[in-house]
This record gives sequence, C-alpha cells and structure tokens, in this order.
Amino acid sequence: MNDYEKYKGNFLKRNYMGELINDNGLEYQSRVGHWPEAEQLTDNSIELANFLNSNNLLQDDINIFEIGSGGCRNLFYINKINENINFFANDLNKESSFKAMHQIMKDKVTFYEEDTLSLIKNFNSRVNINILISSDHLMHLPEIAVVEILEYLKTEIKPKYILLRELFSDLGQSFNRTWPKIHHQYDFGNVYKLIDSKKCQNNGEQYSLKLYKLEN
Ligand SMILES: C[S@@+](CC[C@H](N)C(=O)[O-])C[C@H]1O[C@@H](n2cnc3c(N)ncnc32)[C@H](O)[C@@H]1O
Repeated sequence: MNDYEKYKGNFLKRNYMGELINDNGLEYQSRVGHWPEAEQLTDNSIELANFLNSNNLLQDDINIFEIGSGGCRNLFYINKINENINFFANDLNKESSFKAMHQIMKDKVTFYEEDTLSLIKNFNSRVNINILISSDHLMHLPEIAVVEILEYLKTEIKPKYILLRELFSDLGQSFNRTWPKIHHQYDFGNVYKLIDSKKCQNNGEQYSLKLYKLEN
C-alpha cells in the first residue's frame, strides 16, 4: 500500500457501522472548506493571514504552498491581503477540495492531488517555496510520517519560512477518532529558527501559530 492509499481512508465518510464509504472526502471537505460549518475556522484563517502580514511577509510575487489545504480557505484570506502572490497546495482529493473552494482560489491555485508525504518525498524542484503552511494538517498524520516530512523540508526543499498552525500541547490530543489529533515535536534542529509565535485566539491553550525562518 503506498502512502496515499494509507492515509486517504481516514478522511472518507463512514456509515453508522463505522465502515468506510468512498465519497472521496466530499463530506469532510464540505465541513471544513471555504464555507465551513464552524465559523471559528474562518476566524482561524483570518488570524493566520494577519499573523503572516504582521511579519511583513506577504510580498508581491512570492510562492506560498499550503500542505493539506482542503478548500484553500487560508490562502483565500492571504489573497485578500495581497492578490499578487502565487499559490500552491495539495490535498488527498482534488474534486472534493475544489467543491469546497471559492472560485477566486480555483482560478489561482496550482493544486496537487497527492498525499503530503509522497508530495514532499518527490518534490524535486517543482517550485521555490517562500512560505510553506501547515494548518490543522500535520496533527492528523502519524509521527513517523511527520518526522520524514520535516527531514525532507530541512534537507531538500528548504522553504524560506514555515508557518505551523498546529496542536502544540498534549491537551487536546486524541487518538481514538477517525482522524486523530497528535501533538508532534516538530524538531527543526538548527536549520530553522523560531522567529514568531502566538497562541491562537480559539483554543489558545492547545493551538499556536509558529513561524520558522531558514537559518542557512
Ligand atoms: C482539518 S483539515 C485542514 C484544512 C486546511 N488546512 C485548514 O486549515 O482549514 C485537514 C486537511 O488535511 C487533509 N489531509 C489529511 N491527511 C492528508 C494527507 N496524508 N495528505 C494530504 N492531505 C491530507 C484533509 O483532507 C484535510 O483537507
């Protein structure tokens, strides 16, 4: 089973017996996409975009890549601040992600239908990334995959900045659900330096925004 096959099942619909129904992630994306059921997700995206802007990073012509982007809600609010940015994203299913995406982003984003670990492993030099974003995404992947993703980021891809909006506390961890929530260690060694950090406005005791800059 390849990485894509391993992970995509987690984000499919389940019936009342807990059996997977292959809806290509449609139900999940309709809940978390551009028009999320929980207003809080829109607030989170606006907060994320403002955090990058407060660090003066949203400059013309830069390349921003969001891994596990779903309906690109975060990128939509970044685009509201600066329309001259190039956007890239990946997620497990293009059709369901695009159904939950604003037309503006559909027209703008270069989207890869690919599991994040496979994408990062086979990235080659698709694009020179100025800012890589992971928002509520790596927390759903097993530690072993995240360690490997970070290793490739540090040694091969080297985005200039990495922004994590993830679970940074053991509080809120949960393993016994369809999509687990895991507090990873995010070891950037001396390759990246933490340059800004902020507790999130929603669930701030558990979630933070952390901005890392490539050191060398
Ligand atoms: C909670 S949503 C977050 C979506 C978006 N980043 C945001 O902040 O609203 C988690 C996303 O990760 C995606 N995902 C989960 N496992 C994945 C994997 N192995 N590769 C790529 N995307 C994955 C899901 O399909 C979903 O879109």
